[in-house]
Amino acid sequence: MSDRTAYLAAEGYVDELARELGRVDRGHGRLLIASGPPRPAAWAANVWLDPQEIRIASISDAAARLRAIQRNWAVYAPELHRRATLIQELLPKVSAKPLVFGAAPPAAPLGSWTLLDPETVLASPHCTSPFPNGEVHFVEDRRGPPSRAYLKLWEALTVFGCRPEPGETCLDLGASPGGWSWALQGMGAHVVSVDKAPLAPEIARLPGIEHRQESAFALDPRVIGPVDWVFSDVVCYRGSWHWSSAGSPPRDKPVG
Ligand SMILES: C[S@@+](CC[C@H](N)C(=O)[O-])C[C@H]1O[C@@H](n2cnc3c(N)ncnc32)[C@H](O)[C@@H]1O
Repeated sequence: MSDRTAYLAAEGYVDELARELGRVDRGHGRLLIASGPPRPAAWAANVWLDPQEIRIASISDAAARLRAIQRNWAVYAPELHRRATLIQELLPKVSAKPLVFGAAPPAAPLGSWTLLDPETVLASPHCTSPFPNGEVHFVEDRRGPPSRAYLKLWEALTVFGCRPEPGETCLDLGASPGGWSWALQGMGAHVVSVDKAPLAPEIARLPGIEHRQESAFALDPRVIGPVDWVFSDVVCYRGSWHWSSAGSPPRDKPVG
């Protein structure tokens, strides 16, 4: 057993993950290696449990050592890319087929590995995500939804392993142009879509979607009534910044 855990930040969120984790022993691209058991890490796309350092003599030696641990491996190669690719090519192929939303995620254990230097592999046979580097790729619908935002919702529901049942009521806050509402309606839910902006007309026309063009922050729950699910994709800013009076763009990052 090692006494370390490695956390792979979602693309573009390594600073957020570093802040969330606090003390980190080593950074390797988006992979942050910290001592101790796994900590809560909302910004990690994948967590490598019990990662082991393995000294390797050659490319074929690296592949043989990984194969001796288990069959399926995903490589993360922020550096030494060519060498890492040559090792990965000697390992069994892991299916890269995009997932149909609603299908079960891959069940076979998937390990992750990287080259810390040319002679050192860091490998973890157990990771929190069944997807290579925690990235879920879906068979996309290029005709129904008005934008690709629905993929965020599909990913969250797939990772959490739950979804609204037909007939349940979903409150979709920050719903315009309507990708999440489209996805929820497609699951058979009744959707109350709230946004200051209008929905795309073809989404507003779908049966089971009720649009309220108003601020999510001024919503009176007594008017909405009971709901089964609350979804929020509202893009707003922390703090009390006003565009009209400040004269310069907000320094805070969007939240939501
Ligand atoms: C990222 S977009 C939402 C995309 C949407 N989930 C989809 O799938 O199409 C963020 C939305 O938040 C909305 N928004 C920002 N402030 C809001 C507020 N106070 N109340 C309601 N919606 C708000 C914006 O109008 C914008 O449509």
